[in-house]
Amino acid sequence: MPTFDYTTDAPSALRADVLILPVTTGPEAGPGVKEVEKALGISLLDTLRENNVTGKKHEFFSFPTYGKLPVKTVLVIGLGDRNELSADAVRRAAGHTAKWAAKYRSIATTLPQAAGRAGTDEAVQAFVEGVLLGAYRFHQYKTNKDEDYRLDRVTIVGGSRWDAREVRKAIERGQIYAEASAWARDLVNTPAGDATPDFLGREAQRMAKQVGLTCKVWTKADLEKGGFGGVLGVGQGSVNAPRLIELGYQGNGKDAPIAISGKGITFDSGGLSIKDAKQMEWMKADMGGAAAALAAMRAIAQLKPKVNVIAAIPSAENLPGGSAMKPGDVVRHRGGKTSEVLNTDAEGRLVLADALAYLVEQKPRVILDAATLTGAAMVALGVDMWAVIGNDHGLIRDVLEAGQEVGEPGWELPLWRQYKRHIESNVADVKNIGNRWAGAITAALFLAEFVGDTPWAHLDVAGTAYSESAGDYWPKGGTGSPARTFIRFVENQAAASGRSRSRTKKSAARR
Ligand code: BES
Ligand code: ZN
Ligand code: MN
Repeated sequence: MPTFDYTTDAPSALRADVLILPVTTGPEAGPGVKEVEKALGISLLDTLRENNVTGKKHEFFSFPTYGKLPVKTVLVIGLGDRNELSADAVRRAAGHTAKWAAKYRSIATTLPQAAGRAGTDEAVQAFVEGVLLGAYRFHQYKTNKDEDYRLDRVTIVGGSRWDAREVRKAIERGQIYAEASAWARDLVNTPAGDATPDFLGREAQRMAKQVGLTCKVWTKADLEKGGFGGVLGVGQGSVNAPRLIELGYQGNGKDAPIAISGKGITFDSGGLSIKDAKQMEWMKADMGGAAAALAAMRAIAQLKPKVNVIAAIPSAENLPGGSAMKPGDVVRHRGGKTSEVLNTDAEGRLVLADALAYLVEQKPRVILDAATLTGAAMVALGVDMWAVIGNDHGLIRDVLEAGQEVGEPGWELPLWRQYKRHIESNVADVKNIGNRWAGAITAALFLAEFVGDTPWAHLDVAGTAYSESAGDYWPKGGTGSPARTFIRFVENQAAASGRSRSRTKKSAARR
């Protein structure tokens, strides 16, 4: 993976294979253009116009410098409308650039001075994230690794008014966000034959030790003692025993923590309510929510926001077998509520119910969960955005905002209480499937049974956790979403309570 540095050197002094000059629609030149024009004795904007380069999004135009500059090649990238320049436009352009630059060792880039609504540090962070995530490869299982990917140094060229310390911090934040995402992708992409619940538990322990988090991995025996009937029930058809991964981050004394959970089904065959072959192709990714939660905890430990965060991540393998759960079985969840399992393929809600009930016991200020829970969420919103359903509109607004800020957008669906009638059971407290309609909502209503009054937002990431096609900064496979949303949400919460703390201090001083 490339490393980053920062300089205020003029383009004429830069030593790199490629100099990148972002332009906005017009074309309108960004910083660095003047110097390049002078050194090459050309009008860059004329050259762009002559070649029909307008600076619109995704435009790439490169030319050699014929020894007139230390850089060998100049690459002009289009960022789109200057007034709509978002951090995400920078992230996506950087992702493309990282792919384009695969055959070069080093690149240097200027960034637009006033990146519209996104400040300089936001633009720098987004650029770093875009490069690292665009350069992401999963080649652990390839005999011939992608060794032709050579890019190993990226220089960010700052303007005279930039604060070097802020830029360096933004670079580091971009690295932390991107490395978390990349790790989540690795976990999702690892085949289920290797990525078992025990594997996830060991990965969590390794990570926790590395970044300084508390970690307890509950074994099957622990789960039996603790009454986690949902996790145990789903896992009972497999030789790979289930786990519950518990993580803790302390950044603010005894404050009520933010609680996070994620669905960690390492393979979802459907169980006895078995899926067909096509539906099973991607089901190693059914732990995408767990991967995002784990990755978020890792980044939080590195960023050290002033809040407390806890995570309880249930993990099981959903297989048919002689000991598997049968349709009609009743499981008793953590805390005592029972559910009737009419479809063993609606397993995500069963494992999450236990984890949510357990998290509520810790009296958190809010709970977030991410789960590849329903095909219905995917039918409703497609693959570009996750669905969020919850019991607290302020919380949902904050989660949507965090997602927007990091380029992982979501959309709210209602927790329509009337549909509770569809999950009423004759024999247990609830049943695990509704009728044909509003499947994402009835799944959320099932989960709502276990959170009580705790403010809670559930992200159904069935459409976004993995991608069947490559995008601006992701190859086919795990996307890492919504790890960066969780990280940003936690950071925003810390910043907000920091602000209200200092307000209380000020008003106390006034009194
Ligand atoms: N893991 C699946 C949901 C899923 C489907 C994720 C497609 C990603 C892509 C989940 O466990 C599941 O099987 N859900 C069922 C629920 C139904 C049986 C009530 C579904 O959505 O069909
Ligand atoms: Zn599933
Ligand atoms: Mn399923």
